[in-house]
Amino acid sequence: MSSAEPVIKLAIIGNPLEHALSPVLQKSLLLSLHRRGGYEKVECDAETLSGVLRRFKREGYTGFNVTIPHKQRILEYLNDIDAEAEFIGAVNTVRLQENKLTGFNTDGLGFRASLETHEVATQGKTALVFGAGGAARAVCFHLLAAGIAHLHIANRTAERAYELIDDLRRHFPGKTVRFAQASICDTVKASHIVVNTTSVGMWPNREKTPHAFEQRLDGKSVIDIVYNPVKTRFLREAEARGAAVIDGLDMLIFQGVEALKIWLQEAFEFDRQSLRKLLKRAQHDA
Ligand code: ATR
Repeated sequence: MSSAEPVIKLAIIGNPLEHALSPVLQKSLLLSLHRRGGYEKVECDAETLSGVLRRFKREGYTGFNVTIPHKQRILEYLNDIDAEAEFIGAVNTVRLQENKLTGFNTDGLGFRASLETHEVATQGKTALVFGAGGAARAVCFHLLAAGIAHLHIANRTAERAYELIDDLRRHFPGKTVRFAQASICDTVKASHIVVNTTSVGMWPNREKTPHAFEQRLDGKSVIDIVYNPVKTRFLREAEARGAAVIDGLDMLIFQGVEALKIWLQEAFEFDRQSLRKLLKRAQHDA
């Protein structure tokens, strides 16, 4: 580490940030890359957001993460937005360069990277996604971009699912995108990949699940984006029925890695297993 190297100033904005894991993740990545820098938590509300952004510009920040409740609100402050973030309609990563704010969404890239790491085949396959919110938009976008041919979406609020289905059909003509209605069990049977993008099963409602699996799931990949708890009921039941499961911790790590790549404008190696251990410990301590 040389003292001439610029200090990378990063942050996360949101409210509340008490249990945010991104600071632990990003500080560890910066340390492992021997980069001088910091990643601070900046809690702010709608009224103080613009003042925070002015300060970031004045003080030469490289970028920041955005979380609840500002992922959509931040759009009005951006000078530019990446096409994928625009499709998702929410931004979780902002690069600050020459006083200009550019918005990205790395949730989908993180999801895609975790599929690749676990060698999940996607080309020509069928997938079922639970949920139609921001996370679902990111996941569905990447499933289709990765070659999924038939996509089924199940959601509590049908209108929201139809809105997403219309957008996906416009963006990916030639793919089959349908609302999964009556027989979810039959759709599970026909799917190679099943993903929960809803918050159902998240702490403290650990015993909730978006779907109670009834059949064997051998050869299928079941993925949950929830990372607290790491092993949700959805994943526990899928695993017990023979599925290969992927938890939300990997997606959390990969979305953070993608954000840091955007800020540093370079690719880098990282140790996924030690980051998993670190984040599990941090979650336990929080
Ligand atoms: P995010 O940006 O994290 O995806 P979101 O946009 O609020 O958050 O979306 C949350 C998703 O979880 C939605 O699909 C929501 O279903 P609705 O569209 O019907 O609201 C789903 N969800 C949240 N709580 C739920 C619950 N108790 N039962 C079923 N679905 C739920």
